[in-house]
Amino acid sequence: MKELPEGVRHLPGHFDPAAQEALLAEIRGIVAEAPLYVPAMPRTGKEMSVRMTNCGALGWVTDKERGYRYQDTHPVTGRPWPPIPAPLLSLWEELSGWPQPPEACLVNFYEISARMGLHQDRDEANLVAPVLSVSLGDACLFRVGGTSRGGPTMSFRLESGDVMLLEGPGRLRFHGVDRIHAGTSGLLKNGGRINLTLRRVTV
Ligand code: SIN
Ligand code: MN
Repeated sequence: MKELPEGVRHLPGHFDPAAQEALLAEIRGIVAEAPLYVPAMPRTGKEMSVRMTNCGALGWVTDKERGYRYQDTHPVTGRPWPPIPAPLLSLWEELSGWPQPPEACLVNFYEISARMGLHQDRDEANLVAPVLSVSLGDACLFRVGGTSRGGPTMSFRLESGDVMLLEGPGRLRFHGVDRIHAGTSGLLKNGGRINLTLRRVTV
């Protein structure tokens, strides 16, 4: 097995199939209340291939006019985000080592053809608390690099039920999703991948 870079923690199969189903049911409830929307890049307005929504006090959003930011309401419905489900709050408590609860949970939905370019998570006022993510559905090829663009990177596979943390020296590593491996999970009837990312936003 490849050794992961410092500050990248990967917990394969942290959620068993029953727990994955339970989480998925929570996510379905969230999406019913706060529908997936099409995020767009700042300035260019180019649409991202990933569909997004959030739960928690704050949600990460992006559009052409106002760019990357956190806000307390859904950009389409104008309503507050639904609360973060209890199993995700427990997960954060168990693994983050951070004394306060997460404020944001970004829900990313990847169709088979979707991907996410290399980027850093740095829209938070708090760049010290870890970023914790859960993968559900089809596997992906996840890429992680250093803290400056253009440096060496490595990739590994994230499967349904896996948990991953970027913490300490890993918090600001560049990362992205190269591709989704179609047909690798039966969790989502129509295939695709869901990623849940928990973050502390304020200090
Ligand atoms: C993200 O960086 O927002 C998502 C990462 C992932 O889908 O695993
Ligand atoms: Mn990210």
